[in-house]
Amino acid sequence: MSAPIRIKGLHSCLKTTYLSLKRHVHRSCCCYNQSDVTSQDGRKKTFHITTPIFYVNAAPHIGHLYTALLADVAARWQRLKGRDVLFSTGTDEHGLKIQQAAEKHAASPKDYCDKVSAQFKDLFDQSGISYDEFIRTTDTRHNAAVDKFWETLQRRGYIYKGGYEGWYSVSDEAFLTEDEVQDGVTSDGQHAKVSISSGQPVTWTKEENYMFRLTAFQQQLTSWLDSKAIRPSQFEPMVRSWVDDLRDLSISRQRERLTWGIPVPGDETQTVYVWLDALVNYLTVAGYPQCVQPRCWPPQCQIIGKDILRFHAVYWPAFLFAADMAPPRTLLCHSHWTVEGHKMSKSRGNVVDPLERLGRFTADGLRYFLLREGSLGSDGNYSDARAVERINSDLVNSIGNLLSRTTAPSVNKAQEFPPLESDAELAAFFTDVDVKMYRSLQTLAEQADEHYGNYAFSRVIDLALGHIHWANAMVQNHQPWALVKLDDASSEKHLKSVLHVAMETLRVCGILLQPMIPQLTDRLLTRLGVSEEERCISDVCDSGNECARPLGNKVTLLGRIQTGKS
Ligand code: MSP
Repeated sequence: MSAPIRIKGLHSCLKTTYLSLKRHVHRSCCCYNQSDVTSQDGRKKTFHITTPIFYVNAAPHIGHLYTALLADVAARWQRLKGRDVLFSTGTDEHGLKIQQAAEKHAASPKDYCDKVSAQFKDLFDQSGISYDEFIRTTDTRHNAAVDKFWETLQRRGYIYKGGYEGWYSVSDEAFLTEDEVQDGVTSDGQHAKVSISSGQPVTWTKEENYMFRLTAFQQQLTSWLDSKAIRPSQFEPMVRSWVDDLRDLSISRQRERLTWGIPVPGDETQTVYVWLDALVNYLTVAGYPQCVQPRCWPPQCQIIGKDILRFHAVYWPAFLFAADMAPPRTLLCHSHWTVEGHKMSKSRGNVVDPLERLGRFTADGLRYFLLREGSLGSDGNYSDARAVERINSDLVNSIGNLLSRTTAPSVNKAQEFPPLESDAELAAFFTDVDVKMYRSLQTLAEQADEHYGNYAFSRVIDLALGHIHWANAMVQNHQPWALVKLDDASSEKHLKSVLHVAMETLRVCGILLQPMIPQLTDRLLTRLGVSEEERCISDVCDSGNECARPLGNKVTLLGRIQTGKS
């Protein structure tokens, strides 16, 4: 069945039956391409999406929230499309960096990790990050996964004992070559060798440890890059340059130097390199070592910031090749948030505290700003003033205003979302441009799907806001507050048509914006009388609005955010 059924003048008591029938029909209706939702055998694929796991050496900042938010929006969109989702996040708790941070706070590493890991979890819970798994590398299940993974690489001949001599950056937990360091000044004013990319001090390290045959994977890495796995593509040339210049990788540290980590299986004198330990988290959440669900592997999308590209685009796929496992389909890399053009850092004192901003802007306000202004390809500049401006102009003035103009009892006396009686109303009361905009609501889901699929979330916002701005202007032209005072049948029809067109715009945009601003759209759709069962993508195409919907309770979508620090 391809066309939506239309039942005119349906008695309200039949509406529930109608809606469930409509839903049944619409699940197989063609609002958007369903082919990417089911695999060839007809079974639903799981959309496995991950964030990096976060270091617990310091409290979370706005950049961490951004990484998690990108994954959250993608996960929510896939759920709306009816797909099973495995969305994982968590904390990275081993290594020298954490060991030293705990010492500095005079705490045991475990107590310290418990405390900071809980801060990340709390931030994500308060921000509506809808993760399915929150993994900690100190979890027992993860330890078992790392052991098995190590043993697999060893059995397959990719690990050998060797000597490592070179620079090590504790802050980046990375081994660096001579070309990657330079003379510099540390944050406390000392002259020292520092990492060129992060500016962090490095130390000369010479020790016996285990090496991974990274050089064996040049060919496979190149083929994987050819599959366009790195997105946006601007990051690919850098990865290719690394792949062209591979060296075997040290994957353990002497235990006497690094006690806070997983011991190398079968050799208690060595600790597993924290990046190998951390990367395995993606397998742990998929069920490794017991059984990796084939429907969850490989991950569909792994989201990372540009600073950890090499670990995810070179080491990680190579580790997987070594274990005879498939690499992620997409590695989505994003740029960073700066403050006044500077990197956020404790020493500069410009770290933006996301919890404090949640209190000021609300979760959806902050989510909206980060998604509106953040960009994958270039660094975004965080500014409180800009956040206030954006939230007030788009969420409060544009969406909030359209909702109150169409639902205020003075204009909408019946407190209903009226149907459009027939196409004749469109022809009678609206301009061609208005009719075109109204009709184009039907295609918004398809367009939004493409943008969500490309992780171009701000383009979905542009689409929706474009329609909301048009609808506000249309309402302004038709002056429903004047129409309501005219006591004739034509004005009443006119008023109902204007309310319908504006509310239909809100309904469609509300459904499509759910992944980005879930709480605000919930209030919006509830006020419009759209039940939770009618908020799927397939519902965009047909409002099910042949009968008037009674409005839900009056709500304030979002109060105006005050400028200046509260
Ligand atoms: N623990 C490693 C990741 C291991 S994944 C197997 C790590 N942790 S991190 O806490 O330093 O960074 C986590 C994520 O936050 C990374 O994607 C990083 O790019 C991101 N961000 C850190 N600072 C950021 C900004 N200023 N702006 C945007 N994202 C930033 O690396």
